[in-house]
Amino acid sequence: MMKNTHRAFRWPQPLEGQQARIWYGGDYNPDQWPEEVWDEDIRLMTKAGVNVVSVAIFSWAKIEPQEGVYDFDWLDRVIDKLGKAGIAVDLASATASPPMWLTQKYPEVLWRDEYGHVCWPGAREHWRPTSPIFREYALNLCRKMAEHYKDNPYVIAWHVSNEYGCHNRFDYSDDAMHAFQRWCEERYGTIDAVNEAWGTAFWAQRMNDFSEIIPPRFIGEGNFMNPGKLLDFKRFSSDALKAFYVDERDVLAEITPDRPLTTNFMVSAGGTGLDYDDWGYEVDFVSNDHYFTPGESHFDELAYSASLVDGIARKNPWWLMEHSTGAVNWRPINYRKEPGQLVRDSLAHLAMGADAICYFQWRQSKAGAEKYHTAMVPHAGEDSQDFRDVCELGADLALLGEQGLLGTRLAQSRVAVVFDYESQWATEHTATPTQQVRHWTEPLAWFRAFADNGVTADVVPIRGDWDSYEAAVLPSVYLLDEANSQRVRDYVAKGGKLFATYYTGISDERDHIWLGGYPGSIRDVVGVRIEEFAPMGDDFPGALDHLDLDNGTVAHDFADVITSTADSATVLSRFKAEPWTGMDGAPAIVANRYGEGATVYVGCRLGRDGLASALPAMCGSIGFDLPQGDGRIMRIERVSDDAGFEFLFNRSRERVTVEVDGEPLVASLGRVEDGRAVLDPNGVVVIKR
Ligand code: GLA
Ligand code: GLA
Repeated sequence: MMKNTHRAFRWPQPLEGQQARIWYGGDYNPDQWPEEVWDEDIRLMTKAGVNVVSVAIFSWAKIEPQEGVYDFDWLDRVIDKLGKAGIAVDLASATASPPMWLTQKYPEVLWRDEYGHVCWPGAREHWRPTSPIFREYALNLCRKMAEHYKDNPYVIAWHVSNEYGCHNRFDYSDDAMHAFQRWCEERYGTIDAVNEAWGTAFWAQRMNDFSEIIPPRFIGEGNFMNPGKLLDFKRFSSDALKAFYVDERDVLAEITPDRPLTTNFMVSAGGTGLDYDDWGYEVDFVSNDHYFTPGESHFDELAYSASLVDGIARKNPWWLMEHSTGAVNWRPINYRKEPGQLVRDSLAHLAMGADAICYFQWRQSKAGAEKYHTAMVPHAGEDSQDFRDVCELGADLALLGEQGLLGTRLAQSRVAVVFDYESQWATEHTATPTQQVRHWTEPLAWFRAFADNGVTADVVPIRGDWDSYEAAVLPSVYLLDEANSQRVRDYVAKGGKLFATYYTGISDERDHIWLGGYPGSIRDVVGVRIEEFAPMGDDFPGALDHLDLDNGTVAHDFADVITSTADSATVLSRFKAEPWTGMDGAPAIVANRYGEGATVYVGCRLGRDGLASALPAMCGSIGFDLPQGDGRIMRIERVSDDAGFEFLFNRSRERVTVEVDGEPLVASLGRVEDGRAVLDPNGVVVIKR
């Protein structure tokens, strides 16, 4: 669906008398500590160069200990101490975790799972966004917070709630059901249109009235939910939380119109809960929480996610609201960061367009569910490597700010890799050609394959301006509606260079298949016609588990059975297989000319390594010049009309030496000598040009 415009961009301004700086700090939970600790906190914050903290995110029970009884004194004192020390406050609405008195009085605010089980208090986010009662209490608290802090000079921004949908994304309660019915009515107008969209002629699911719409509640193990309903329920769930956010935002904004507002997203490669690109229209500035993926994809996944956040922010500055100094507490195994990664990770977010670098959290808790989550001040205290790194980073950020990094933006790449939340949601359905294939892995594989060839691509949401790039990749963009199909057609017709893969353009926005041979929505553009899919796997002995290509790469999990190609097409690579597979000699990678532009269609899953090795030939076939870069280094540039900063990151496990032009402002596990940067693993240098 087409979107209206974004809310005007507004960025938190420095405290009076201060210069604009790169914001640096973290979530601060002084309510977990006796007041004696607060002065020590401020001493350490000053030492580390911290200039902002997010306060009161989970403080509802302390601010309103009983219904209608408010205690702001402690919060006033802490904000005052912070402000007088030159540390600004990103103040929470405090509504993320309702107090016990509220849920005991009104258990109907608690959300329910698909079996009808109640989500009881005991953690947080145990509320449903469609509850009129919860809405009343939460908006009341927003109003009280805004009225109390409207003239406070130290509050520079609102942090509305926290990570909406992290735990309460899907609610199947009766409130949710009624809201879902209204949502369907708004989207479709008539029940017949819903019947048509959801294909309810199938399995006797036809409905006579909106009141017959129920959420996708439990239907028995191993059964298959109506895909149209499920897709719309994901849309609805994102919208229901968004509507709740908008209500909270508007109460705050009405009372404090001068304060920019945000809410922290959770954009990472695999995290596709809410449609954050859609949410991006509703914030004054985008903020994100990102937690590293342990292992070999650590850096790439971070860079990819940060680039997607920059895409969601439409290249406006964005705020890294949370990341970790080291291990988290919520994985089965909580790996530490390697030496250098604390500084390197933050600088990678910065390179990708963040103008604020913050952590969860300032001081590591000594009690509670997150006591093993690392923080800026660890259990070990000031005398620790993490705190020394935090101080080093603070100094780096201060220097980069002084040297003019603020005001520069992430340079536009030549390549856009398209990401689409709804394609991810649709491909998550459990009755598809294979459960091995989802949308999200493919954009990351392309981002990495380009990086291996020395190109740092931009990750661009499908609503963004991917069609303004020299080349664009549609990586398993499974849903293409009429409008986006037309955009693809126009883009290539006007000279665009398009890479598209298997599982792209299969269905429209209702997940109705485009008929006549896949990929039905853009068959003419990519010049292939597919009659059948050939998923691969090893769950049955003797099943087809891979296909070799004649370019030396190997396909796993998925291949298209391309039965014909357009006259304008050239087959770049074919499968080599046993004759009985029916795939021997079938086209695997096909180039096509369309209008002024050209396309490459990759009809199988090659993975990052296969794509990386196939990329030079694919690029050559459509006239995209790959630079002679060293794929072990990722170069990211931030530029303005009169300044340029180059960030060089070592992506590899070995020491790498590359030529550079300029002197390093900042270096970590790296140095520059005689025009050459020497970077150890996890190393980074930042050069001003
Ligand atoms: C069963 C059902 C059919 C259909 C097939 C699909 O046999 O009776 O309606 O669902 O499975 O394999
Ligand atoms: C989320 C939350 C934080 C904290 C961190 C831990 O991002 O917003 O409150 O729980 O996770 O990683």
